[in-house]
This record gives sequence, structure tokens and C-alpha cells, in this order.
Amino acid sequence: MENQATYNYKVVRQFAIMTVVWGIVGMLVGVIIAAQMFWPELNVGPYFHFGRLRPLHTNAVIFAFGGCGLFATSYYVVQRTCNVRLISDKLAAFHFWGWQLVIVLAAITLPLGYTQGKEYAELVWPIDILITIVWVCYAIVFFGTIAQRKVKHIYVANWFYGAFILAVALLHIVNSLVLPVWGTMDSYPIYSGAVDAMVQWWYGHNAVGFFLTAGFLGMMYYFVPKQAGRPIYSYRLSVVHFWALSFTYMWAGPHHLHYTALPDWTQSLGMVFSLILLAPSWGGMINGIMTLSGAWHKLRTDPILKFLVTALSFYGMSTFEGPMMAIKSVNALSHYTDWTVGHVHSGALGWVAMITIGSIYYLIPRLFGRDQMFSVKLIEVHFWMATLGTVLYIASMWIAGVTQGLMWSALNSDGTLAYSFIEAVKASYPYYFIRFLGGVMFLSGMLLMFYNVIRTISEGKAVDAPIPAVAAHA
Ligand code: HEM
Ligand code: HEM
Repeated sequence: MENQATYNYKVVRQFAIMTVVWGIVGMLVGVIIAAQMFWPELNVGPYFHFGRLRPLHTNAVIFAFGGCGLFATSYYVVQRTCNVRLISDKLAAFHFWGWQLVIVLAAITLPLGYTQGKEYAELVWPIDILITIVWVCYAIVFFGTIAQRKVKHIYVANWFYGAFILAVALLHIVNSLVLPVWGTMDSYPIYSGAVDAMVQWWYGHNAVGFFLTAGFLGMMYYFVPKQAGRPIYSYRLSVVHFWALSFTYMWAGPHHLHYTALPDWTQSLGMVFSLILLAPSWGGMINGIMTLSGAWHKLRTDPILKFLVTALSFYGMSTFEGPMMAIKSVNALSHYTDWTVGHVHSGALGWVAMITIGSIYYLIPRLFGRDQMFSVKLIEVHFWMATLGTVLYIASMWIAGVTQGLMWSALNSDGTLAYSFIEAVKASYPYYFIRFLGGVMFLSGMLLMFYNVIRTISEGKAVDAPIPAVAAHA
């Protein structure tokens, strides 16, 4: 029974290391496709063409990098806040290896051109079934551990992780319902026409809301107070934040389909709910930032805290920008342009990647019996590379996007288009180079992280913390 005396850190270690590895792989593919947009001759063969590598990038960064980060932190947080070991080491191990298999299959099938053609849900049906099985195991381990908890109260971070697990299960199953063509990897969606589009963007937007937001808010609610050494600013606000965010996100999907064949009222509904979404998003952001009250001075010397707080600032920025872009008249300008891509990466690099990086820097020394990372100085350098990289990326895409939107809609006095399409491409061209530079900078920071992690691991050794006999503050 020795097992029960310690937390299961093995699976946390495995997922934490793979977060860094898949982060590098996914961002490298991001840098390659960014380069392809500046140097079109880099589009070689069918397998390494932009069209095949782009979904590889999105799947790798969201599901491999983001996913592993969420699994590592959720397993750590649920054990520490419930004062109990994961209910099953075997299922947790199956979750780890099963998810790695999903990623490898994605990396093989996407360049080969196997796709369902739905954004963020490209993987073909056999892989979808594997994802479902692995996800159910994850849910059993997570909720089973909560059911066995030794602390009566369920800390708010677990609510966010729990919502992430349930919502993603629902989204994945509903959006992946297809009729397979037997003997092939092809399939037909069971929905048709506008309904298919609506289901897809109900999925797409809630993938943002629950995969790229709720789970990372779980991270925020644990690691920000921990690293700041302060309790969460308002626990009451965190509960309001949870319910308001979960309820509102579900209705905002149609803002991805403004001015399409979708019924007009659904578009307006999506727009209104997107505007409402600003309130819970900012409530959460303010709650996180205000947690630093009395600890602001730590920001000067603690690069991990810098990562976490800057992530919150970018979260605030992208959740202000999103509702603005959801207003139909603004969307008429922004849709189809690189403004959307800029918005995506202010959330993806600024929020998702930064909060993950900060949390992994917090975890690695604790998982490998060290007081701190091998080099705090290198974390500081990484922080500035990540921040600068993000700013270069999003600022260049904003300029390119607004330029494209304005040029496409500019009219001559006789009502004809003032610019041809290629003129807008030419105007965007320099900004693609700046975006590429930003990406290289962000990726280089990740390589520094990799080095720092390897050095910390090689100087330390894997340790599983003992579970305190009396329920203690995690
Ligand atoms: C209050 C919160 C948010 C709202 C209301 C919102 C709204 C929007 C809108 C209106 C679009 C453009 C749709 C279009 O014209 O096609 C968009 C695109 C997108 N947003 Fe957000 N956003 C929010 C937060 C975020 C965050 C925090 C992230 C990332 C972590 C994010 C990721 C994305 C992605 C990935 C897309 C692109 C989808 C695609 O076309 O492939 N959003 N969002
Ligand atoms: C080194 C860092 C990165 C670089 C250079 C990069 C580059 C790119 C490029 C060039 C595209 C295609 C844009 C287009 O089609 O015009 C893209 C799309 C996308 N990337 Fe990244 N990316 C990076 C990191 C990330 C991360 C960390 C995430 C998520 C956590 C992410 C999520 C996405 C998403 C969701 C899209 C699709 C956007 C849309 O459909 O509007 N990226 N990225």
C-alpha cells in the first residue's frame, strides 16, 4: 500500500515534459507555414504544402501542446487540492499513452491528406473513436479522484477543469457524428448544409471556450495564487465567473458565420452573447490580476509570475477584441482577413501558451526534487522573447488584416472595386515577414525552455510528494 502514501506525479511528469516537446513541434510547424506565406516556393510536394501543414499546426498546438499542459496541471491540481492520489495509475497511464498515439496518428494522417475538413475537427473517424475512449478514461480518473477526495470543498480550479472535460466530450461527440464509408477513412457528416455549419461552429467556438479557455482558467486559479503566495482575490467572484462563463460561451458560436446562410436571428443571438461574454471574461481576468495585491513587488524578480500575469493581460485583451469582432458591422471588415489570425494568436500565444509555460516552470522543479529551475535568468530571457514574439505576431497581423479589409471594400466613385485582390496581397506581404520573425522569436524561447528543463531534470531526480495525513492547504 506504499503507493497510497504519495501522489501520482509520474503521469504529471510525463505530460509536463511532452507539453514542452509538442510545443516546440507545433510551433515549428507554425513557423514553417508562416515562412511558406512569405516564401511560396517552400510549399513542396503535396505532403508539405501549406494546406496540409496548417491543420497539423493547429492540431499540434491545441491538442498536443495545450492538451498535455492541461492534463499535466489538472492531474497535479486535482490530487493536491483533494489530498488524495489519482484513483487509478493504470487508467492514467492509458490516458497518457493513448493521447500520444492520437497525436502521432494526427501527424501521419494530416500530411497524407486524410481529413474531415472541419476546422479543429479534421481527424478522421477511426482517430475520433480513439479520442473518445481516451477522453472517457481521463474523465473517470479526474472525477473519480474528486469523488474520493479527503477535502470536503472542491476548489474552483477543479470546477474549471471539470467543465473543460465535460464540454469537450460533448462537443467532440456531437460534431464528429458521421457515417463512415466502410473500408476507408472517409465519412459523411450526419448533418447537412447550414445545420452542419452551425454545429461545426458551435463546436469551434466552444473548443475556444472550453479547450482554450476554461481549462487554462483552471490553471490560472491554482498557479497564480501559488506563485504569488496570496489567496485568490475573490473566491465569490470565481464562482460567479465559472457559471457565467460556462453558460454564455455555449451561445456565441454563430459569430463565426455572420452574413452566411445561417438564419439572421441566430447571427444576432451569437453577437449579443459574445458581447455579454466580455463581462465574465473580464471578471476572471481581474480576479487573477488582483490576486497580486500586496505581492506586486514580486513581479520585479519572478519571471514565472511575469509569465502568468502577462498571460492574464493577453486574456483580457483578446476577450475584449473578440466581442468587438463579433459585432456584425465590425465583422464585415475583419472576417476573412488576417485580423482574425492576429486575434487567434493574441489568445493562443499571449494567453494559452504563456499561462502554460508559467505553470510548467512552476511544476518541473517540484516534480524533480529541486528548489527551482536550473536557470532563473533563462526563464527571464524566455519571458521577453515570448512577449516580444507575441507582440510582433499580433501587431503585424492587425495591420495586415485591417489593410486587407479596407482595400477589399474600397470602391471607386462608379461603384467598381478600387483594388484588385492581388494588390491587397502585395500590401500584406511585408507583414508576413514580421509575423515570421515573431514566430521564430517565440519558438527560440521554447528551445531555451527545453534546455532549462533538461538541465533541471538531469540535476534532480523524479520524486512523488507524500500525501499529508491531515487535509492541508494544497
Ligand atoms: C469573449 C471572448 C471571445 C469572443 C467573443 C471571441 C470572438 C471571436 C470572433 C468574433 C471571431 C471571428 C470570427 C470570424 O469572423 O470568422 C473569433 C475568432 C477566433 N477566436 Fe475568438 N473570441 C474570444 C476569445 C478568444 C480567445 C481567448 C481565444 C484563444 C485562446 C480565441 C480564439 C479564436 C480562434 C481560434 C478564432 C478563429 C476561428 C477560425 O475562424 O478558425 N478567441 N473570435
Ligand atoms: C511560434 C508560434 C506560432 C506561429 C509562428 C504560428 C503561425 C501560424 C500561421 C502562419 C497560421 C496560419 C494563418 C493563416 O491561415 O493565414 C496559424 C494558424 C493558427 N494557429 Fe498558430 N502559430 C504559432 C503558435 C500557435 C499556438 C501556440 C496556438 C494555440 C495554442 C496556435 C493556434 C493557431 C490557430 C487556432 C490557427 C488557425 C487560425 C484561424 O483559422 O483563424 N498557434 N498559426
